[in-house]
Amino acid sequence: MASITIRHLTKQFDTKTAVNDVNIELGEHEFLVLVGPSGCGKTTTLRMLAGLEPATSGDIIFGEKRVNDIRPKQRNVAMVFQDYAVFPHLTVYDNIAYGLRSRRAPRSLIQERVPTAAKTFRIDHLLKRKPRQLSGGERQRVALSRAMVRDADLFLYDEPLSNLDAQLRHQAREDIMALHQIKQKPSVYVTHDQSEAMAMGDRIAVMRDGRIEQIGTGSDLYERPANLFVAYFIGTPSINLFAVSLQQDGDALFAVNPGLRVRLPESAQMQLQRYTGKTVKMGLRPEDLHVPKLAPFPVSEDNQTEGVVNVIEPSSTGCAVYLSSIEPEPQDFTATFRTRLPASYLGKEIPLALNLEKAHFFDPESGDSLLKR
Ligand SMILES: Nc1ncnc2c1ncn2[C@@H]1O[C@H](COP(=O)(O)OP(=O)(O)OP(=O)(O)O)[C@@H](O)[C@H]1O
Ligand SMILES: [Mg+2]
Repeated sequence: MASITIRHLTKQFDTKTAVNDVNIELGEHEFLVLVGPSGCGKTTTLRMLAGLEPATSGDIIFGEKRVNDIRPKQRNVAMVFQDYAVFPHLTVYDNIAYGLRSRRAPRSLIQERVPTAAKTFRIDHLLKRKPRQLSGGERQRVALSRAMVRDADLFLYDEPLSNLDAQLRHQAREDIMALHQIKQKPSVYVTHDQSEAMAMGDRIAVMRDGRIEQIGTGSDLYERPANLFVAYFIGTPSINLFAVSLQQDGDALFAVNPGLRVRLPESAQMQLQRYTGKTVKMGLRPEDLHVPKLAPFPVSEDNQTEGVVNVIEPSSTGCAVYLSSIEPEPQDFTATFRTRLPASYLGKEIPLALNLEKAHFFDPESGDSLLKR
């Protein structure tokens, strides 16, 4: 059962459509991550859910009840703001207790919850300080604690970890997930960091220019991106995109460009038949390019290409190799290997085996995915 339903939600600021026909059904215990580039409408969406911004049109439904006209306080939503708004004149303790006090929670509950939340976010030694005596990261953790003490029906987080260093960020992320496990309330978490989205979301909604481009689990988005934007936005290093023309040769369909000639797998051939003679975008994730002798599939001239190694970047799992295809039209692309490529390969041309079973194809104009998986 959906606990929160958002239907055709739209927000118009003068001539700017900040949120454009957004539809989301949020499960009872679901942790949804809203991800997208700056200015795509994430904060505006959250503010409409919290009741801080009236919707221009559309419905926001909590359970069975349409809440568009219900004031923020009556919606019982806890929100952590992007600019971690805390009250400057209140101590850390009073800031955290604020939401409970304003709802007339019993003193014993406040005394129990405030120190526990502060401890969770490692600011329990700062309870007597005022916000101006705190670092940005500490203030952000006050804002997180303040939301966490609440018994809200919906939790909204607007980039709450953007001011934390990598280690604290990781820790706070785990704390938020642990608290979500305890509270089991629907939550919407905004970030523009796709790796954070992949790590945290039960589902992820990818937003662009006020619209939701795709909503699904991390593997839906990674393995079955609906369009070029999602394919490119999700995954680091980004997916490689090659403009290829689809050419029939004998009984097979080949993807061809000046530096590449590969045979498409059977399933893709069937679906792409009607694009024969046309140019499409072929997408291959960096991990689907292999050193031929280590490839987990048979390698032949029909699934190989070459590239010149420009940069080798070691990583915890192996390395990322940045390459250029061979003339006449060099194109940059990336491969990630599970082994480290020795530095002696820099500047050299190496063969690469392509796992075409994993290739994506997109309409070059609409950007829509051409394969059903
Ligand atoms: N009060 C406002 N008046 C006019 N335009 C606004 C207003 N608030 C937001 N906008 C515009 O609406 C669009 C969406 O803004 P929003 O703050 O929702 O983006 P965002 O996805 O949260 O971006 P960021 O990642 O930078 O926080 C932007 O183009 C912004 O300039
Ligand atoms: Mg924002």
